[in-house]
Amino acid sequence: MRIILAADYQDMSRRAAGLIAAQVAQKPTSLLGLATGSSPLGIYRQLVAWHREEGLDFSRCRTVNLDEYVGLTPDSPQSYAYFMQQNLFDHVNLDPRNLHIPQGDCADPLEECRRYDRLLTQLGPIDLQLLGIGLNGHIGFNEPGESLNADTHCVALSQSTMDANARFFDPGQQMPTHAYTMGLGAIMTAKRVLLIASGAAKADILREMICGKVTTAVPASLLQLHRNVTVVADREALSRLPAELLE
Ligand code: GLP
Repeated sequence: MRIILAADYQDMSRRAAGLIAAQVAQKPTSLLGLATGSSPLGIYRQLVAWHREEGLDFSRCRTVNLDEYVGLTPDSPQSYAYFMQQNLFDHVNLDPRNLHIPQGDCADPLEECRRYDRLLTQLGPIDLQLLGIGLNGHIGFNEPGESLNADTHCVALSQSTMDANARFFDPGQQMPTHAYTMGLGAIMTAKRVLLIASGAAKADILREMICGKVTTAVPASLLQLHRNVTVVADREALSRLPAELLE
């Protein structure tokens, strides 16, 4: 695992965006696995800026997002579809036909999971998968548990995740209790994984992910078994890691 120490959130975002831009430049038809949450916002801002100012060209890229809340329509402000539109898709030259996210308001959840897996097989493997990390070690919405799922599935969100993500919902608004998530199979077969983390709250889980046991109790620890993982994280998030591991 390559671990890049960034000075702060902005530096983390710029370095991680640089790796994505390099991927797109090297392979214009790249299949990019995209993530939501607060961590990737700076990356998307940087990519939009490079698209506008330097002509970074996404016209032939294809994207697959990791996850979506069950029950939310794409135009719901809390949906990940809406998040992607607002923060990236509306501002770069990605072809709308090439953007894929599990459909939160689908009528048949099982069929939606199978559809997404068929799509991942047809388009894949993912060239570069961007990941954040949940406070409990989840990636996408692959939550800690007795076992992990290789395929796209519908998951009951853990209390830790509900608490962490409640900030995105209005007070009194019912937060979804379930989500669709890409499974570990598509993530582990991505050619390259880029995981980002920032802030002191992520320090303990980042150490567990990188230095702890590989365990389903910390889904991100599975990435220790992947051959091409780059972690870009800021000083605070890496504060509990031995200095010799850092670049
Ligand atoms: C959500 C998303 C994850 C994300 C995680 C961390 O649960 N499903 O993909 O990595 O939150 O979010 P944040 O970056 O806001 O800490």
